[in-house]
Amino acid sequence: MQGRNTVGVGIIGSGLRGVSCLAAAMAATWEETRFEVRCLMDRNEERLQEAQRHLKSVCAKHGAPQPDVRLTTDAQSLIDDPRVQMILVTTPTYAHREPAEAALASGKKVYLDKPIAADLEDAAAIVDAEKRAGHPLIMGFTRRYEEPWRRAFHLLETGVIGDLHMLQLRAVIFYHVYFHNWFRRREWSGGALNDKSAHHCDVLNWFAQSACRRVAAFGGQRVYKPDPNAPVRCAECDRDCPYRANPRTFDSHPKGQPDSWGHETEELYRGDNCVYLPGSDSLDHVTAILEYENGVKASLFWSVFGPPAPDEETLELVGSKGRLILYRRTGTLDLVTDYGKRKETIDCRTEDFQTSHFGADRSLIRDMRRFYEGGEPPVRATDGYESLRMVRAMQESVANDGALVSLADSHL
Ligand SMILES: NC(=O)c1ccc[n+]([C@@H]2O[C@H](COP(=O)([O-])OP(=O)(O)OC[C@H]3O[C@@H](n4cnc5c(N)ncnc54)[C@H](O)[C@@H]3O)[C@@H](O)[C@H]2O)c1
Repeated sequence: MQGRNTVGVGIIGSGLRGVSCLAAAMAATWEETRFEVRCLMDRNEERLQEAQRHLKSVCAKHGAPQPDVRLTTDAQSLIDDPRVQMILVTTPTYAHREPAEAALASGKKVYLDKPIAADLEDAAAIVDAEKRAGHPLIMGFTRRYEEPWRRAFHLLETGVIGDLHMLQLRAVIFYHVYFHNWFRRREWSGGALNDKSAHHCDVLNWFAQSACRRVAAFGGQRVYKPDPNAPVRCAECDRDCPYRANPRTFDSHPKGQPDSWGHETEELYRGDNCVYLPGSDSLDHVTAILEYENGVKASLFWSVFGPPAPDEETLELVGSKGRLILYRRTGTLDLVTDYGKRKETIDCRTEDFQTSHFGADRSLIRDMRRFYEGGEPPVRATDGYESLRMVRAMQESVANDGALVSLADSHL
């Protein structure tokens, strides 16, 4: 867009989300959004070099300018960098709090990826830092930026399905990555349920337009079960296994060559821990029922095993005179209105649908620019905090044989 100022960006945690998704989406939308990545921070120096090369290749691909990118292992020096006005925090979830607090304290605009944190103490500290800063941060709950979800919410608001009474989120996602890298332990990710269903809890809250009152859940670890005879990592194993790790690497890395993820030796940082390697305390499936303050009832049906399929993630809304089903992978809505007299399928795919997260990342960057100019963020830290409380309540219910957990309990 002509006349827009260029905004300098710094990324804290230069891994797949920060660089492969968001920096790439900035390059792809450069003409409109004018975000320019000027500083990258990571704990791993080899990762920083790879991230810089990757950034250069995506900027070249999209015809975006290629400024000098400063590399640093010191988050505070990125935050203090006068060339940086917008700070992205895309560290692993256990490492969100420190950079988010410091970035908010600087008075600069801040993006924080979901889930807000791995534990409630860190989440509460981020919410407090947001309050102290006097302005919100913008969070990365991807579905809030995806066209079909926005369209579904708009349709709900227009009243075409009447009053909302029931909500169902079904997510059967072939996502063994959760048992390969730092997602595999709750202390690092809050559990796979936190990483994936923080999105789902946020969606349920968004559509219910109310606070969750109580939760009951069953779940466990059924497929990715610890095995004392498991190899340590896929690179050392030649078994024919459906759960071999896909190489965790930037797209521009030469195929077949070990990269910064391949060179990691600690369980926390390796990208190809065997899914059966003992140590993971992450649930791999959960079914939960939820009740909202306004009487809306919801359910979540979630697993990270099962085959990839076009209906791998669906949202169903049941209202007093109609119902709507959203199919994430096809970008369509199935709408029934007027007590069943009218039925239609709405194709919500945008021209970005084939890009990362079904186009959500580019849409997020456009919203980030509006946020940078002073607009309201579509989703903020308090929403992240609420979704983490629900994840925690589900985990507690699972640990207590499906006991009903009230969100009014003080420890949540
Ligand atoms: N919104 C979405 O849809 C979405 C998608 C993917 C990931 N995420 C979130 O983004 C975050 C990052 O995930 P990812 O997949 O990019 O992980 P990743 O492991 O690919 O990248 C994280 C990077 O942070 C670095 N790092 C680790 N500890 C650090 C520290 N203390 N300080 C600075 N850097 C540190 C690592 O070396 C790594 O390069 C997570 O919170 C994840 O849940 C969100």
